[in-house]
Amino acid sequence: MSEAVETTVAEEEIDLAGANEILDHYVGMPGALMPVLQAIQEHYGYIPEPCVHLTAERLNVYCSQIYGVLTFYAQFHLEPRGKYIVRVCKGTACHVRGANRIGDTLQERLGIGHAETTADLKFTAEYVACIGACGMAPVIMVNDATYGSLTVQKMNEVIDKYVSMD
Ligand code: FES
Repeated sequence: MSEAVETTVAEEEIDLAGANEILDHYVGMPGALMPVLQAIQEHYGYIPEPCVHLTAERLNVYCSQIYGVLTFYAQFHLEPRGKYIVRVCKGTACHVRGANRIGDTLQERLGIGHAETTADLKFTAEYVACIGACGMAPVIMVNDATYGSLTVQKMNEVIDKYVSMD
């Protein structure tokens, strides 16, 4: 069983060169904050705290304003995320076909709860609403790949595949 990530990455471990390069492109442009934050998340996989301070300084906005945006929009993440994001659909069709058992087994196997990430940063597990593949219920997604008509055993086989990948 893996341990969930409990602490943020220390400030000194973040290489700000990528964020500075992004900011070089946007400094002085009106409405730059959202595209800057999206680009930073794309680059780092989440929004590291030092990048918030850097962005505030270079775009001349308050950190509180940036945190307001980051907490309002669900697309932004303030903690490191796993290389593989496993989304377990808990929509009605999946729910009646056993999504809870699949989700519980997945979380037990990975040792993490909803929206948590394994300590090795390999997996993040999330419960989500209908992902539009109800005919294949119950369904999970791993990044952009969809796996349907799952049993607990089939879900474990899917996860086995990603465990064995880098
Ligand atoms: S309810 Fe799960 S895909 Fe629609």
